[in-house]
Amino acid sequence: MANIKSDIEITNKVYIETYGCQMNFSDTEIVSSILINSGFSIINTPDNADTILLNTCSVRDNAERKIHERLIHLKRYKKQNKNLVVGILGCMAERLRKNLLEEKQIVDLVVGPDEFRKVPQLIDDARTGTRGIAVMLSRVETYDDIEPLRTSGVFAWLSIMRGCDNFCSYCVVPYTRGRERSRSLESVVKEVENLRDKGFKEITLLGQNVNSYKDRQTGEDFADLLAASAKAAPKIRFRYMTSHPVDMSDKLIETMAEYDNICKYIHLPVQSGSNRILDLMLRGYTVEHYLGHINKIKKLMPGCSLSTDIIAGFPTETEEDHKATLRVIEEVGYDGAFMFKYSPREHTKAFSMADDVPDREKTRRLNEIIELQHKISRELNNKETGNFHTIVAESPSKKNPEEWMGRTDTNKVVVFPVSNGIAEGDIFNVKILGSTSATLFGEIIS
Ligand code: 5AD
Ligand code: SF4
Repeated sequence: MANIKSDIEITNKVYIETYGCQMNFSDTEIVSSILINSGFSIINTPDNADTILLNTCSVRDNAERKIHERLIHLKRYKKQNKNLVVGILGCMAERLRKNLLEEKQIVDLVVGPDEFRKVPQLIDDARTGTRGIAVMLSRVETYDDIEPLRTSGVFAWLSIMRGCDNFCSYCVVPYTRGRERSRSLESVVKEVENLRDKGFKEITLLGQNVNSYKDRQTGEDFADLLAASAKAAPKIRFRYMTSHPVDMSDKLIETMAEYDNICKYIHLPVQSGSNRILDLMLRGYTVEHYLGHINKIKKLMPGCSLSTDIIAGFPTETEEDHKATLRVIEEVGYDGAFMFKYSPREHTKAFSMADDVPDREKTRRLNEIIELQHKISRELNNKETGNFHTIVAESPSKKNPEEWMGRTDTNKVVVFPVSNGIAEGDIFNVKILGSTSATLFGEIIS
């Protein structure tokens, strides 16, 4: 029988596991900060934790399946420590709500993305036997006043807005993260200055659709925010995610071109290359409109790298639609892509459409898309041989401890050998010697 430590000392140690998008990683830093301010401490392994929180993703069914499986694993910890508190945070908490408490005995608390301030109280309640739920969505919560607990002193996520008003027909995000709201430009720039003063080297501005950022008081838009940030910290490299093609403006492209410290990399999800499917997805643009942005980007920022998201097998997608997607991928020549099989999500508009592309066919189309994208990435990376890039050292390479990895301005991963005395955040000029479809290999020049 498992060793039951019923008299275990409660030490307020919380372990948080994060799944899904960058926004979730940024949210975990906010939750951690809230917990620390209430007297908890954050630890890096579940072994001695009094509380285990899973910050979850609902965007596709397989993301949720992972959490269900993880909960089965966590039963072992609960057997060892009957006082252990287990909580589900984030999108899955918001989507499944009290069903999670009803169906999963192991779950003690369920907290949606706009109610993180209640996590400390709900942990305390759970310890006295009251299982709790907080899943109200807010039109104003931005956690503006909370300084996220960042573990790196070099790379920072900075969330500039929350929620999404786009309601793309396949997407559950507007239902789990609520309506779009932006922080004020002033508060974001203050946070940038704070990070600058602490010695950070790279900041990624985050939002579900950063192009519709708006400071409600002053009317300033995302291009204004990016310019103000770049000006406030000229030595910091700025990235951002994610763009929506509808709201992408010439002004933003011109602003990116103007500042050397705004990275020349744009993630611009196209989702499909067929206008009929884009219409059904409620994306609000045509392929031609999308390609107009791409041409402008290529003209104003030659060498700017591009990535995208693609969904294979949306309801009614024909072979012809699929071929159109392959053509767009070819025409743009993306440096990279995130590619998915369509996954029906309850409550979304597309959920009422029949999921009529058979799974085998979705897989075949997805594999064709992946194969084409890998070929393009390989060719583009091949052309990098002999080029020089400035990179910020990120971490030791996973495969070989005598190598480190960093990223180019264009967001390409470079692996390079190191002799001694290298630290996260060191900046190098590297020469590219070779590549695969996913990685560049280089040597330090200076
Ligand atoms: N099925 C498959 N992919 C999806 N995405 C969002 N919702 C779904 C879904 N229901 C993808 C989109 C989006 C990315 C974050 O996830 O491509 O841009
Ligand atoms: Fe989802 Fe569309 Fe909003 Fe992106 S823009 S989060 S795909 S609804």
